[in-house]
Amino acid sequence: MIPKDTIDDIFQAARIEEVVGDFVHLKKRGVNLLGNCPFHDEKTPSFTVSPTKGIYKCFGCGEGGNSVNFIMAHEHFTYPEALRYLANKFGIEVEGEEVTPEMAQEQSERESMYVVASYAQQHFTDTLHQSNEGKAIGLSYFKERGFSQETIEKFKLGYAIDSFDAFTKVATDNGYKTSFLVNSGLTKDKNGKQYDGYRGRVIFPIHNLSGRPIGFGGRTLKTDKKVPKYVNSPQNVVYDKSKVLYGLFTAKKAIIQKDNCYLVEGYTDVISMFQAGVENVVSSSGTSLTTQQIALISRFTKNITILFDGDVAGIKASFRGIDMILEQGMNVKVVLFPDGEDPDSFAKKSVPGELEDFITDNAKDFIVFKTDLLYAETEGDPIKKAQLIHDIVDSITLIPDEISRSVYLKECSRLLDIEESVLISELNKGIRKKQYDSRKKGSVAPEQVSVVPFQQKKSVPNATDEIEDQEQNIVRLLLTFGNETIPVDVDGEMQDVAVAAFLVYRLQQDDLTMINSVCREIIAEFMRALEDEKILEQTHFLNHLSPEIAALTIDLVTSKYELHDWESKLIYVETEEHKLKRAVEGALHSYLEKRVRIMWHQNQEKLKANLSDSSEVMLLMKEQKRLTDLKRKLSASMGRIVLN
Ligand code: UTP
Ligand code: MN
Repeated sequence: MIPKDTIDDIFQAARIEEVVGDFVHLKKRGVNLLGNCPFHDEKTPSFTVSPTKGIYKCFGCGEGGNSVNFIMAHEHFTYPEALRYLANKFGIEVEGEEVTPEMAQEQSERESMYVVASYAQQHFTDTLHQSNEGKAIGLSYFKERGFSQETIEKFKLGYAIDSFDAFTKVATDNGYKTSFLVNSGLTKDKNGKQYDGYRGRVIFPIHNLSGRPIGFGGRTLKTDKKVPKYVNSPQNVVYDKSKVLYGLFTAKKAIIQKDNCYLVEGYTDVISMFQAGVENVVSSSGTSLTTQQIALISRFTKNITILFDGDVAGIKASFRGIDMILEQGMNVKVVLFPDGEDPDSFAKKSVPGELEDFITDNAKDFIVFKTDLLYAETEGDPIKKAQLIHDIVDSITLIPDEISRSVYLKECSRLLDIEESVLISELNKGIRKKQYDSRKKGSVAPEQVSVVPFQQKKSVPNATDEIEDQEQNIVRLLLTFGNETIPVDVDGEMQDVAVAAFLVYRLQQDDLTMINSVCREIIAEFMRALEDEKILEQTHFLNHLSPEIAALTIDLVTSKYELHDWESKLIYVETEEHKLKRAVEGALHSYLEKRVRIMWHQNQEKLKANLSDSSEVMLLMKEQKRLTDLKRKLSASMGRIVLN
């Protein structure tokens, strides 16, 4: 845990324009700064930064928040990671946290492994560009593959000298411990004799999300079939192949912008596609996709497009893995490359733009793709067709979203030429089984699809939504004008009272708490401060430790209307105090009136339901009387306000 005082210091120091300015080019526009939104693709800037409020807000996509929110959203950091990042940037010391000796040990081992990987990456890159062997063999190989100088540098490609232990020797001479070298796979140990794990290979460094090298793929340049084509890092404290995606560090920005992630087989596909201008591409390098890798992608996008080379056996083998992606609620498309081509070879042959066009033109929804492919193979055989139906419906069953499932059933009913109701009952069978299994495990399963999909549910006008809107409006007034005063009749005498005091006491007086828990919390904080005769500032809530409070505040004080009318509103407030009074009282009264009316009805219903319980009836009747009185009082004072 980072101490609260330190968190406060970080919030204080982290000037929004400097934080955002590291990632977005900002231009001054009045009191605010304007730039292109990093969270969605846009041509005309609608991303606004307000230094005075310490917040950002995009009017194109709705993203908004304070400095910490920005770093969390942009870098995909957790809350503590974002705080540490900002502390580091603004030179705030985060006090040493309590660590056990084991934690310290593991921490230091991790750190050492990172340091070793960094060193090796730099060493291999230097070798590629500076040594004669590196240039003659490694660099010319990459050039021959069609990788440009820029690409080679971007992916920090390297070369390991073809000698028994040249690397191990240099690394040890430079003070790197043998145990770390061995754990990272850079050095092999055979009967106490150490030699280089990657000797004579070109090196593809693997980076983690923040760009630190954590592992290596090394490709042999020999044609000898006995030599393994690729050597990959072994599992260790910094490299867990099931949690790493090759290229994610270089691809993440493009993945967010395109809202799609291309998945390919290996290092060379990622690099060639990147060079061909398609940057949102990653690879699971040799292993089949894991749930952790899918979760990693889903932090950036819900859309995955898998690029297959033409090998049908390989494609079918991957169907299980793809089901896993569906199960995590992602949308999966697939692209099949022409026979004998993979993304790497296709990218190399194509002219600029061709690869991107090919992918867009050929991307097929996975379920449709699977149905087509397997259907072609049934060749009219009814047994095979029945098997296929089970197979497809099994995939559809995994999709968490009910509407998507219905759409797929319809589509597959058409493709397979089979009654939709048959598919629906098959699907519901599967879902019932899942519900049964998950009840046993205590987790949640999807709902069954109704036999007539898309049947309109009877719509009930939602009173709660409306009430919550009104609550937010009151909180907005509180946050925006809390410090302004309005003339209020206090015991027959007009006095200037702060809007915050007026609203909070008025709500307290009728003993009504808000439905929306975030609004309730904000009101409660105002109340506690008022008891100490303090009125909380808007910035207190903008930089609130509770992310929900900060988010709501940002939303409320940056509505489009708010920013556009900002200046005129200030003048309007200063010069026409009584208009503010009218706005505040109006908002409060229409809210109270509605809230009480609904409570009255709810209480009435409860009464009807509890007639047999006499003590309960007493309580409910008492509440009913209180609400009736309140209702009467409110409609009387409402009239006064309107006349005012
Ligand atoms: P390829 O066999 O196409 O590798 O596998 P390549 O380097 O592109 O070789 P050529 O030039 O076409 O013959 C594609 C990807 O699969 C992974 C690598 O990531 C490679 O980039 N792979 C392949 C391995 O991890 N291990 C292997 O043994 C083979
Ligand atoms: Mn290849």
